[in-house]
Amino acid sequence: MRILAFESSCDETAAAVLERKDGKLTVLSNIVASQIAIHAKFGGVVPEIASRAHSEAISGITYEALETAKCTMDDIDAIAVTNNPGLIGALLVAVNFAKSLAYAYQKPLIPVNHIKGHIAANYICHPELKAPFIGFIASGGHTSIVRVEDPRTHVLIGGTRDDAMGESFDKVARVMGMPYPGGAALDKLAYEGKNPVKFPSAAVRDDTLDFSFSGIKTAVLNLINQEKQKGGELPRADIAAGFVEAAVSSVITKLGMTFDRNPDMKTLVLAGGVAANSHLRTALEKFTKKRGLKLYMPDLCYCGDNAAMIGAAAFFEYDAGNFADVSLNAYAYSV
Ligand code: KG4
Ligand code: ZN
Repeated sequence: MRILAFESSCDETAAAVLERKDGKLTVLSNIVASQIAIHAKFGGVVPEIASRAHSEAISGITYEALETAKCTMDDIDAIAVTNNPGLIGALLVAVNFAKSLAYAYQKPLIPVNHIKGHIAANYICHPELKAPFIGFIASGGHTSIVRVEDPRTHVLIGGTRDDAMGESFDKVARVMGMPYPGGAALDKLAYEGKNPVKFPSAAVRDDTLDFSFSGIKTAVLNLINQEKQKGGELPRADIAAGFVEAAVSSVITKLGMTFDRNPDMKTLVLAGGVAANSHLRTALEKFTKKRGLKLYMPDLCYCGDNAAMIGAAAFFEYDAGNFADVSLNAYAYSV
């Protein structure tokens, strides 16, 4: 059985073909058209421009995904699409495209939640992964701790109250003069910091499993402004090292509380664009080893937005018979 999947919730237009044979999932193609170059000059994603760029790219990447998978629409059994959460105008492009294809070719249409998609990247990389587990998803738009009871049932138990983790990386990188999105560049630069600057934690100091990444970001911005006023050279690497250290240790703090409160959970699954952060990956390896937990992380190519992860999540929806008709809508929030 084969699924053609689409993703356009933010600034990547993506299409993929996945095959499930004898219970084994294979990614036959995974095409991502990134808009980073378009948005870089604005220092962030411009929603209107993102929607237009999705419209331009989506037909071409669909051909490419089918061609790479050596398929025609006759070989496709269902069509999946991210319909929440994300930028509404961006989501609507792939939703309408998928609806039209499903209607024209009379294929079942499967709506997929983007966050469940990020988690599902791990089912591609680790076929042995089984729920229940704790999921930590961090990207440019989301930061959530979820109890994954089964692949379709995610219970939100913690998250950010303001900026997403990736967003804070990008904003800090931007004021340090790095091009958008600067998360990966900060990750690298942090290794050069010999005297990491101390920044406040993003773990909210209360009983919740919540984060506030805006506080840590503001502390970095204030420090950079002070240093600029003094006219001295910015200790860029030490700032990067301090910021990364504070961000990563905040995650460890809240995940520690999470596992203390959920003793039935023995597995941690990381997902989202920030899952590519090498410091976070190393810290989580140590954290899970110390606590005797299992850790699953997606391969780097499946951390950022892609359609293969949407296809992987869609197989569970297909099995559950969760199909949409042509009235399918898109939602900015998680449904
Ligand atoms: O999942 P994603 O592609 O898009 C959203 O759903 O938002 O995540 C993109 C985010 C950006 O904020 C980017 O800076 C961040 O992931 N990111 C990283 C790294 N690689 C990508 N953040 C920290 N370290 C990295 N190595
Ligand atoms: Zn994402």
